[in-house]
Amino acid sequence: MNIAIAADHGGFELKEILIKHYAKQNLILKDLGTYSEESVDYPDISKKMADEILSKKSDLGILICGTGIGISIAANRYKGIRAAILYNSDVARLAKEHNNANIAVFGGRMMSADDCIKNFDIFLNAKFEGGRHDRRICKLDID
Ligand code: RB5
Repeated sequence: MNIAIAADHGGFELKEILIKHYAKQNLILKDLGTYSEESVDYPDISKKMADEILSKKSDLGILICGTGIGISIAANRYKGIRAAILYNSDVARLAKEHNNANIAVFGGRMMSADDCIKNFDIFLNAKFEGGRHDRRICKLDID
């Protein structure tokens, strides 16, 4: 499974922590930037990630901004992207089981790194249930 990660300046610090944490577990996250705390625009970061997922270069993504809100709004404008803020452990599980989210989102200024890691691990280990949820997901992409 190939996983990419990207953040704006509000999520830069958390991105670095997650990259280091998962590298220790032999899970290399593909870093799409940003590469410093210099201010950038979160829609540009979401576009980069949406292109990465929709072109199937990576199977899953992690996006981080200050709150998680702007970067998820922007990502969810791309057809085929299902970005979900994993703000607690139940939501992390359901984001996979029911929504088959392909991007996990965190608020770098709102959540502890430990909670993000815990929630992302739950998300990774959960399985999409399909069935009625698949039917609903198919209704998400509107022309
Ligand atoms: C950047 O200051 C901040 O607005 C951004 O990281 C994010 O929280 C937007 O939703």
